Amino acid sequence: MRFILVGPPGAGKGTQAVHLATHFGIPHISTGDIFRLNLKNGTPLGLQAKGFMDKGELVPDSVTNEMVADRLTHPDVQAGFLLDGYPRTTAQAEFLKSALTAMNSPLDAVLEMTIDNSEIVKRLSGRRTCRGCGKIYPAAQPSCDSCGGELYQRDDDKEEVIQRRLEVYADQTAPIVGFYRNEGLLRTISALGSVDEVAGRAISALSK
Ligand code: AP5
Repeated sequence: MRFILVGPPGAGKGTQAVHLATHFGIPHISTGDIFRLNLKNGTPLGLQAKGFMDKGELVPDSVTNEMVADRLTHPDVQAGFLLDGYPRTTAQAEFLKSALTAMNSPLDAVLEMTIDNSEIVKRLSGRRTCRGCGKIYPAAQPSCDSCGGELYQRDDDKEEVIQRRLEVYADQTAPIVGFYRNEGLLRTISALGSVDEVAGRAISALSK
């Protein structure tokens, strides 16, 4: 199974990706997580991405495409993959299509998660992330229940940055929904409800 999760910031893509990757036995590839890991390790890629991420802007297509192209050469993608947070522009979607055509591994589906902006702001302002393993939590708690790591609030989850991320999503990312509708790959579900309810909806939409 090879598919993409598309949706605004805070729709729950990362949360659902963990469930779906386990369900389908495929790797979860999150461009946001790769940038944050590079930032934590102080690599040139991480430092380059930080300036864009902190402002809620997209990292340039050339940088992101190269990073994803490299990730798609890893042997684990032979089982399939789930892309979370990529593509985010029509140029990235075109690049991915060419890369997958060259690999003879076309996409099976694109799952769009819809949610209104007021719920997004509520979710993102409450979100905490583990510094150790990256696990996502809906609210503050003393420490990560998986690895004991410290929980922190992402710099891009401050309210003014959330607003900019929403604008960037509407301007630059929402057009890829039409791109994938034209390709006949789009499946759309509501991201509202409990995590288990949304996971059930996602699995059912992807299994059609
Ligand atoms: P990225 O990390 O991809 O951020 P995002 O797309 O903005 O998505 P989020 O991680 O904010 O939200 P999510 O939908 O995964 O929601 P989550 O599951 O955490 O990108 C960050 C930045 O990196 C970008 O702004 C850009 O600068 C750069 N970047 C990344 N990819 C790029 C690309 N392709 N091109 C260029 N730049 C790129 O859930 C949110 C909260 O809600 C959590 O607290 C969670 O616990 C809670 N929650 C989840 N589901 C539910 C539910 N059903 N009910 C209640 N609460 C829920």
